[in-house]
Amino acid sequence: MSGPALKRADSHAAIHEAALNEAIELTNMLEKLADNSQQEKAMELAYVLVEQWETRTLAHASSEEEGLYKDLVKENPDMKDDIVALTRDHDLLRLLVAEIKRLLPEFGVTGGVVQRFHSLIIVDELHNQKELDVLPEH
Ligand SMILES: [Fe+2]
Ligand SMILES: [Fe+2]
Repeated sequence: MSGPALKRADSHAAIHEAALNEAIELTNMLEKLADNSQQEKAMELAYVLVEQWETRTLAHASSEEEGLYKDLVKENPDMKDDIVALTRDHDLLRLLVAEIKRLLPEFGVTGGVVQRFHSLIIVDELHNQKELDVLPEH
């Protein structure tokens, strides 16, 4: 999605919601599999979920940092602090995904892995609220 569409809160919110709803659904499925000790199926789904975060939300974050965020600061230098904070949110999402990828092959779908998938959802929800707040076009 190009810069101008990301500047509009409504179209931008729709992108967030589609990715997040999918992640929530998959995370709930993962939790059930883990609770029922279906470790093999849980592993498979965990890797699907990692890929979902990478290709949807983390790719979206990188494109924001390369386009939207630079444009916003150029147009309004006062937004610098907000953009630094939002970029740190992206880094937290990246760190959580990296931790999951480190834990999965070694320990499988543990409670800690499921917790990190839930944390991704919560951090992303809070990030999205703030991001939409600072967009110039509502
Ligand atoms: Fe976004
Ligand atoms: Fe973002």
